[in-house]
Amino acid sequence: MKLADNKATMSFSNGSPSVELPVYSGSVGPDVIDIRKLYGQTGMFTYDPGFLSTAACQSAITYIDGDKGELLYRGYPIEQLATNCDFMETCHLLLYGNLPDAAGKAVFTKRVTQHTMVNEQMQFFLRGFRRDAHPMAIMTGLVGALSAFYHDSTDINNPGHRDISAIRLIAKLPTLVAMAYKYSIGQPFMYPKNELSYAGNFLHMMFATPCEPYVVNPVIERALDRIFILHADHEQNASTSTVRLCGSSGTNPFAAIAAGVACLWGPAHGGANEACLNMLEEIQASGGVSKVGEFMEKVKDKNSGVKLMGFGHRVYKNYDPRAKLMQETCNEVLAALGLENDPLFQLAKALEKIALEDEYFVSRKLYPNVDFYSGIVQRAIGIPVKLFTGIFALARTVGWIAQLNEMIGDPEYKIGRPRQLFTGSLPRAVLDISKR
Ligand code: CMC
Repeated sequence: MKLADNKATMSFSNGSPSVELPVYSGSVGPDVIDIRKLYGQTGMFTYDPGFLSTAACQSAITYIDGDKGELLYRGYPIEQLATNCDFMETCHLLLYGNLPDAAGKAVFTKRVTQHTMVNEQMQFFLRGFRRDAHPMAIMTGLVGALSAFYHDSTDINNPGHRDISAIRLIAKLPTLVAMAYKYSIGQPFMYPKNELSYAGNFLHMMFATPCEPYVVNPVIERALDRIFILHADHEQNASTSTVRLCGSSGTNPFAAIAAGVACLWGPAHGGANEACLNMLEEIQASGGVSKVGEFMEKVKDKNSGVKLMGFGHRVYKNYDPRAKLMQETCNEVLAALGLENDPLFQLAKALEKIALEDEYFVSRKLYPNVDFYSGIVQRAIGIPVKLFTGIFALARTVGWIAQLNEMIGDPEYKIGRPRQLFTGSLPRAVLDISKR
């Protein structure tokens, strides 16, 4: 970042002296006002719940232009990455800053595949969960538990530990998600098959059984790989900021990523794909496309508490570029599986059409986000709805770890410690219990 030509001057109506604040420019995007010395100079904090105007860090990983609907990983447009690269190349890009050549890709892929198995003891930990536990509850526990199984990579200040924990996390997340699924349906766990691709291996661990050979469908494999690419990173969203904040205390990488998994679970964030599919299924059960108008009236009624899941985004005030790619993948997968007339897909298209023309959505700049179509693709692939957010977590792991490692390497990083506007009671004395 460089000091911009201008400075910001903050003046006060109560006659307190004004203060000058440095302004920095990034390579692209809005400038930022450096307020780090504001408290020291004025005794005042800034107030920004929800971080609507606060840049909490500098980062060179992902850039979003929400008005244009643009998403870049390390400068590369998501459309080109999703079309020309696979997830392993994308992981390399996010972690190390460059797209690998063929030899670099082979080395990186080999490193990842060498770590796909998990410590055998982990299955006994998993077996302690109820069979009907939500996969995200299991994932939060399992990812946190990795720190108990891989002691030799838990020092966040050691670059070697950070590197090996990154590879371990990327390699083991698919294994853990598939184990959580197999456990829920009472099937034996399938060990990873390292001759398969990252996505192909995940499909194998999810859908193969020891009894019969399993052949990976290349259309599904490519679709899943694209889902992974589209979800790999998204700048300083809630779960990434959670990972950074958690990691800023110096905790180990597995614990920090487990915090990200927990945050992602929420329906306003990663849980939206599950919530979106549940919403579509409910509308379908209540009468399908003919009930879309009625449902939309509820969405627009502030008192109903109903939201159109898969719509709206804090940053995108235009079509989420990932949603366009996901819709394309949706068409491909449904065609390959002979499900073009899938009623939920028809319903989603009807909802989207109405929303894109409706004044309520147009005036608020609410467009479909990535989750609007990803649930339909995953359901067509055979992934149960409850596992959708787990798939999102496995894909986002590389982004979390890249952001965490970037933070640790940043000389300006400090433990995250927001301040507050206190509105509670002034000091008061504790009365004896008989007098309260
Ligand atoms: N349905 C109906 N109204 C909406 C929706 C929606 N999905 N999203 C926003 N609004 C309204 C909101 O009520 C508000 O209206 P008003 O100005 O009249 O009060 C206005 O649009 C602005 O919304 P906001 O809640 O201030 O926006 P936000 O930036 O705080 O929230 C959001 C962003 C993603 C949490 C929200 O749009 C939402 O809840 N969407 C549904 C959940 C969803 O699909 N989440 C996935 C996000 S993409 C995947 C990921 O990155 O995790």
